[in-house]
Amino acid sequence: MTTNIKTFEDFRETFFAFRLPRILLTALDLQLFTVMDTKSWTIKNLAKTLGVSERGLEILCRNLASAGLLQKRGFRYSSERVGRQFLNKHSPLYRGSYLQLMCQQWDNWNSLTQAVKTGHPVEEKEPETPSYRHAFTWAMHERSLDAARQVANQVDFTSATSLLDVGGGPGTYALEFLAKNPKMTATILDRPAALDVARDIAKTRRQGKRLSYQAADFLIDPIHGKYDVIWISNVIHIFSPSTNKKFFRRLRTHLNPRGRILIQDTFLSDKQSIRPAEANLFAVTMLLFTESGNTYSLADVHEWLKKTGYKNPGILTLKKGTGDWDGILIQAHG
Ligand SMILES: C[S@@+](CC[C@H](N)C(=O)[O-])C[C@H]1O[C@@H](n2cnc3c(N)ncnc32)[C@H](O)[C@@H]1O
Repeated sequence: MTTNIKTFEDFRETFFAFRLPRILLTALDLQLFTVMDTKSWTIKNLAKTLGVSERGLEILCRNLASAGLLQKRGFRYSSERVGRQFLNKHSPLYRGSYLQLMCQQWDNWNSLTQAVKTGHPVEEKEPETPSYRHAFTWAMHERSLDAARQVANQVDFTSATSLLDVGGGPGTYALEFLAKNPKMTATILDRPAALDVARDIAKTRRQGKRLSYQAADFLIDPIHGKYDVIWISNVIHIFSPSTNKKFFRRLRTHLNPRGRILIQDTFLSDKQSIRPAEANLFAVTMLLFTESGNTYSLADVHEWLKKTGYKNPGILTLKKGTGDWDGILIQAHG
């Protein structure tokens, strides 16, 4: 998303961009795509089934059709592919856990002014219960499925036989790396409740047998073993620069000779550290949910790596439109 507000009209248009997301949220609240499934509906029948007004539903559906999520033929509406496959509980590709996490954020973002005033998250503390962690970990799996496959197809691990997936959560990345590299074994380092989900997912995949687990608070507890690759994806944005530096230093001691660390995240990449916009927007999420998280520039992370003893920090750029975020990985040797 690129926004460049130069006129009041630009400002107004940008401001009102909240309308479509709010429409999507209402459609999800009503389970519209699940109820519609693969059938085509008149407004009258759909309104009766959903228990909502015909007037409200007609306006909602017209907007969803204009956004490409519904198809309108005469007086009948049906779901297009995204709605049928990903937003529909009857579909095997339903992204329910991730959708729930996305929807919850609407309320959290309403508290942004308070978070800016205090500099602290809106909830007293990240709700670290096993049920929260299970739901979050499933959401991460649904979020990363496609990206993990794309990263695994492009990163060369031929000389590596062991990988530590730090904060690997559901193991989505580790499993894809194992599938692509039959001689490799991998270990996921995460909280016990996240590893429950990883075990359940691994059971459904042949390469799951080459996966092992370390349950730990990785900032405090001992980390075991030495690895050819340390993969750390979507973790450094949770922590402050000083915590990340300490953690990098510690992780380096778990690399085999000639081993490397690979970091995936959303990075600020221009000289002034204000772009891409998505990296700034994600920093807001970190303000709302974490005590000291943020998004960082490529230059910052390179600097931390050098200061903590890594050699030759550099960038791996994936094919445009693939991988997570902008498809940029940072790599350095131990
Ligand atoms: C945003 S998720 C990223 C999951 C996965 N790496 C990905 O890219 O999809 C961050 C992960 O780090 C784990 N994590 C955060 N702080 C942790 C800590 N102190 N100890 C262990 N795991 C932690 C969380 O449980 C979660 O699974």
